[in-house]
Amino acid sequence: MDETVKEYTNGEVTIVWKPGLCIHSSHCWKELGEVFNPNKRPWVNPYGASTEKIINQVKKCPGGALTCYLNDQKGKEETKQAEPSGNFSIEITDGGPLLVHGNFTFKNMDGTLIDRKNITAFCRCGLSKNQPYCDGSHKLKSVGK
Ligand code: FES
Repeated sequence: MDETVKEYTNGEVTIVWKPGLCIHSSHCWKELGEVFNPNKRPWVNPYGASTEKIINQVKKCPGGALTCYLNDQKGKEETKQAEPSGNFSIEITDGGPLLVHGNFTFKNMDGTLIDRKNITAFCRCGLSKNQPYCDGSHKLKSVGK
């Protein structure tokens, strides 16, 4: 899995991008193109919208590739996409990944235990090159239909 982590800040909020978790849903750039533009480098412009708009958009990231934290709360409160601790829910998307909302631990194929939080998108089409996570490759094929 791509373990890259990049951060972009406007001085108030820091957007954290983990490309290894991106499922290419395109919500970010379609809904807040002033901040997220995959045709530009860097593709994230943290000055493109208000902190409130950025936080609200980041919360919609279905794969958990985008998170953020307020700079004065670094290490304390990363923006949550789902309620924390102990419980989770599972959502099967139409033609896409299996989304697990919440905090949980799972055993990976090699036996390692991995803690996950917020939202995790598991591939169910078999095409992802980032197993067990979805990488958006399902768009090449319709799954679960
Ligand atoms: S379900 Fe998205 S890559 Fe397989």
